[in-house]
Amino acid sequence: MMAMNKRAFEQYELDPIETASRDELQALQLSRLKKTLANCYRDIAHYRKSFAAAGVHPGDLKTLSDLKHFPLMDKQDLREHYPFGLFGVPREEVVRIHASSGTTGKPTVVGYTRADIDLWTDMMARSIRAAGGRKGDIVHVAFGYGLFTGGLGAHYGAERLGCTVVPMGGGQGAKQVQLIQDFKPDIIMVTPSYMLALAEEFVTQGIDPATTSLRLGIHGAEPWSNKMRGEIERTFNLDALDLYGLSEIIGPGVAQECIETKDGPTIWEDHFYPEIINPETGEVLPDGEHGELVFTSLTKQALPMVRYRTRDLTCLLPGTARTMRRMEKNRGRTDDMMIIRGVNVFPSQIEELVLKDERLAPHYLLEITKNGPLDALTIKVETRPGFHGASESDLNACAAGLIKVVKDSVGVTTKVELVAPLAIPRSMGKAQRIVDKRGS
Ligand code: DLL
Repeated sequence: MMAMNKRAFEQYELDPIETASRDELQALQLSRLKKTLANCYRDIAHYRKSFAAAGVHPGDLKTLSDLKHFPLMDKQDLREHYPFGLFGVPREEVVRIHASSGTTGKPTVVGYTRADIDLWTDMMARSIRAAGGRKGDIVHVAFGYGLFTGGLGAHYGAERLGCTVVPMGGGQGAKQVQLIQDFKPDIIMVTPSYMLALAEEFVTQGIDPATTSLRLGIHGAEPWSNKMRGEIERTFNLDALDLYGLSEIIGPGVAQECIETKDGPTIWEDHFYPEIINPETGEVLPDGEHGELVFTSLTKQALPMVRYRTRDLTCLLPGTARTMRRMEKNRGRTDDMMIIRGVNVFPSQIEELVLKDERLAPHYLLEITKNGPLDALTIKVETRPGFHGASESDLNACAAGLIKVVKDSVGVTTKVELVAPLAIPRSMGKAQRIVDKRGS
């Protein structure tokens, strides 16, 4: 872990609820939850139908744990009501639309009232502050702007905190480097994979990325391992913090890692109520057990969400820097879980192992092919420039080493293909790690 910059230790005021007692927080959650259920039932036909089908009524919720009796929902429900069918307010009160593309079919459309934008802005300001950002900082936003929630979410939050925002957006690597050199930002907000692509752009321009003015990197929108965090921190000589969120719940700013502890994102539980369920049975699991993260929004107007299945696999942990609970760093989505000969494999597991080997670069692809009736996994990974050009026997030994650690710790037999630096395409936003060639 990097040493915390001196400014991060300065005293600053938190929202009172961030340090309220658990009792106080839960009382607030319960009153907000009752209101949310009642509003959803009153205003949105989908909930009237789904609550009736489950035999529940908003009045049945007496305690927070009664929420488990209410039906779960997922992306499919949003698709069925595409584009605006789940809105809880007349369309005229919706001041903003965002959408996430997904891999197939129609985009997932989300809407915000003026008050929702205000809430989102507050949560992003709170997040940047928790990450160590302060009024007066210069924030370089390299999340994409547009339908994706990353750019505008970061932008509004940083402005509200009192920062100077550089709305760079994704792409144009050379320009990114120039603006970072000239404007000397304190903070960069960008996906972890694009952060690594930027490191290469600095090197291409003959600049050591460790010499920039950047003090904090706030990263998210895709899974990234703690090894990847270490890589970013070393390369840029900054503190890298995890920002989590999803469009359906509000965008970035659902949870943010605090710089004091760097131990997984603190969930802003006064507005987003988390549960962990067994993804197969839907049963609610106790804190500390791994499963699928489910959120209920507590204060949102345009698109209130009751028990929305995120498909993210993690667990809930007790609060540390705040009284609110944390989530373990998201290890991956159910959609990204590969099942190779009966073994569940996540890209983040492979990433951890790749990055343990200093000869390998953090640029990899996972190719799934069919080998007769069985699925086969090939890890395509770049060698670091210093190791590129090593003897054939050294390269073979390196590949064999990775095959062995993957077998030993994940339990799956893979092939490893070492490729030259820059052979793997770089992402400008969310990295696509899996290439499924089974259909072709
Ligand atoms: O990715 C919102 C966001 C923007 C979060 C910028 C953080 C920073 P969607 O495009 O709807 O929204 O994708 C949401 O991305 O369910 C996770 O699977 C994944 N994800 C988001 N943040 C993280 C993170 C934005 N910190 C989906 N770690 C979520 C791991 C993340 N996965």
